[in-house]
Amino acid sequence: AQILVLHGPNLNLLGSREPEIYGRTTLAEIDSALAQQAEQAGHQVESLQSNAEHVLVDRIQAARTDGTAFVLINPAAFTHTSVAIRDALAATGLPFIEVHLSNPHRREPFRQHSYFSDLAEGVVAGFGAHSYYAGLDAALRHLAH
Ligand code: DQA
Repeated sequence: AQILVLHGPNLNLLGSREPEIYGRTTLAEIDSALAQQAEQAGHQVESLQSNAEHVLVDRIQAARTDGTAFVLINPAAFTHTSVAIRDALAATGLPFIEVHLSNPHRREPFRQHSYFSDLAEGVVAGFGAHSYYAGLDAALRHLAH
């Protein structure tokens, strides 16, 4: 099946962006590891990073009809602000998992609320790049059932 991986704003800087919080793994490294992990299970991953809310909304809307079966999303700062991306995911009705490198619950108060968690199949946060791999693992299990 087709799995859509979405990365929100500033995640293009992974590797050099506040590495003590987000780690030293680059986004390219994460995306290629996810592609391999999915392929080994007989599935495909398409990854997209954008700093623009409307690009993410448009991509999610397209997922309604392009064969996407599951969405893995790190909305980054949009986690705490974007009703528009939340509504787009609700409109597709596709199952999704919310991923964070850091654990927002041990950070600033403004990171404690997510517009996504109550709609998500699950949330993986706090394990650096491994949050994505654990999230994909859960998505693959979901698709196997
Ligand atoms: C993040 C956490 C968000 O609070 C932050 O704005 C990010 C990244 C994470 O992966 O830990 O950009 O989603």
